[in-house]
Order: sequence, then C-alpha cells, then structure tokens
Amino acid sequence: MELEDVQRVAVLGAGNMGHGIAEVAALAGYDVTLRDINEEFVQNGYDQIEWSLGKLAEKDRINDEEADAALERIEPLVDLEAAVADVDVVIEAVPEKMEIKQEVYADLESYAPDRTVFATNTSSLSITDLSEVTERSERFCGMHFFNPPIRMPLVEVIAGAHTDEATLSLIEALAEEMDKTPVRVHKDSPGFIVNRILVPLMNEAAWIVESGDANIETVDATTKYGLGLPMGAFELADQVGIDVGYHVLEYMHGELGDAYRPCPLLAEKVEAGDLGKKTGVGFYEYENGGVNIPT
Ligand code: 3HC
Repeated sequence: MELEDVQRVAVLGAGNMGHGIAEVAALAGYDVTLRDINEEFVQNGYDQIEWSLGKLAEKDRINDEEADAALERIEPLVDLEAAVADVDVVIEAVPEKMEIKQEVYADLESYAPDRTVFATNTSSLSITDLSEVTERSERFCGMHFFNPPIRMPLVEVIAGAHTDEATLSLIEALAEEMDKTPVRVHKDSPGFIVNRILVPLMNEAAWIVESGDANIETVDATTKYGLGLPMGAFELADQVGIDVGYHVLEYMHGELGDAYRPCPLLAEKVEAGDLGKKTGVGFYEYENGGVNIPT
C-alpha cells in the first residue's frame, strides 16, 4: 500500500495516547475511528480531543474551521469489528500489557481487511511477539508516539523480525503526513530508544526520593534546571501516566535485568490508582487541568 491509498485510520484505545493520536490523524485529514471497550472510555477520549482542539485554536496553532473539521472526521465507537471494517491502517494504543495487546490482535486479525497495516504504539513490548499473533507479521510494525502526541514531534518506527520494508516506509510516510518526524528503530529491543533512556531516569528519580536523599520538588528542580528538560522527572511521570512508566519498567526488568528494577514508590502509586494527570493525582495534584500541588 502507498501513502496515497491511506484514507481511513482506526485508533484502538481512547486513553492518553490513543485520543492524542486520533487527534493528530484527523488534523492530517484522515477519517478516524476511535475505539475503546466501553462508551465511557470512548466518550472521555472524544471529549479530550474536543478540549485539545479548542485549546489549539485558542492559541492560534490552528483555526476554528480546522478544529471543527478534525472533530467531524472522528467517529467514536465501541464495536471493534465496525471500527476496523474498512480501514487502511490500525494504530493500536491499548494498555501496555502483552496479554491485552495480544488478545486485541487475535480479534483484529479476523475483523480487519487483508490490506490493512497494523501499527502498535507500544512503549516497550516486543513488536515481533505482538506481530506473531497475526497472520500479517510482515505488515506489522511499531509506531511509537510521545505524550502529548499533538505537541511531541518524534515518532519511533520500529521493525519487528518479520516487518517488510514497504510497511516501514509507509508508516514513516504516514508519520510525516501527520507532521511528525519519524526515526527508524532497527532493533526490536525492550523500550526501543527513547524509553530505554527516559524510564530509567524516572525510576532513578524515584529511588532518590525513596531513599530519602532528596524530595520530589528538589529532584524536579534538578531535572528541569540542571538537565534542561521541559518537565521535572516526577512531573513527566505524571504526564505520561505512572502506570505506563511502571509497566515499561516491569517489562524491561524481566527482559534486561536488575538495572531496571522498578522503585516501590512507583508501585505504591499504581496500587493506589494515583496515576498522574489522568486521575487528577500522581506525585502532584491537578486542579483545573493545571499544575501542581505536591502530594
Ligand atoms: N492539547 C492542547 N493543548 C494542550 C495539551 C494538549 N494535549 N496539553 C497541554 N495543553 C495546553 C495547556 O493546557 C496549556 O494551556 P494554558 O497555557 O492555557 O494553560 C498549554 O498547552 C501549555 O503549552 P505551552 O506551549 O505554553 O507549554 P510548554 O511550553 O510547557 O509545553 C509541553 C508543553 C510540550 C508538554 C512541554 O512541557 C514538554 O515538552 N514536556 C515534556 C513532554 C515529554 O517529554 N513527553 C515525552 C514523554 S515519554 C513518552 O510519552 C513515551 C511513553 O511511551 C512513556
């Protein structure tokens, strides 16, 4: 399939990443089906897109007509079969658990047309293992966006062991069409490139606090003003979702060894359901969508 053949895109999962990816695809002119497992999740994702488009228009990054047109291109759905029945590309952004993703791919294989290319937004999991659940592992690759997708320019395009060149070129071209800069990741290793660097940074920040060497605000000040990152390590964990970082670490720990052992501070937050901005509480509290009262 060539880029010109791509007209309809399905985004599976309307959470933090899924709704942002759907927004980016709709702004690029694609018809998008946005699917999640229940009405509440899919509506929540759709509402967040509406909010985000409004913000972008308010800040003159797009105009009101572009915002309205993008929203109109997005069809929120719960029925998986209907969501993928006539799409050219599926971008999957369901929770970062191998079993959940593999289940989705097993269903997808029977519902999606033969021509459809599958791209996963996994943050860390093996593209090869995911692709082998399908019968199109050559037309399967990673397409990893960063949070928030509307603002972050990079997309990692990751080759699994069976991915063919046409698929990688298509997904790179699609990323460019979405106004993103793709980088090709040749080796399907846990965490790929960005998360291999970033998630240990968040984990080490948590170990510093866990051991009592410094508090959250001090660590965040050092990551911002010493390393020049746009957000502190804990602010960033809240932005991406503490559960997302934790699941990536768990997987990297299992695959790559003890250097990636997740700090208990992260596990505690996940167990408490304090996952960051998306739940209103993480390492900070969020009121009115703003930052931030330390918890
Ligand atoms: N859509 C539209 N507007 C948004 C928005 C969204 N999704 N998210 C935030 N905004 C709005 C805010 O509400 C705020 O509006 P306000 O001024 O009216 O209150 C405004 O955008 C802030 O925008 P600014 O450009 O003024 O803010 P910044 O210059 O601080 O930029 C940022 C924001 C781009 C998010 C910046 O802080 C940043 O780059 N942070 C780091 C993010 C990052 O590193 N992401 C990668 C994480 S790793 C990852 O995702 C991988 C995964 O697999 C774990």
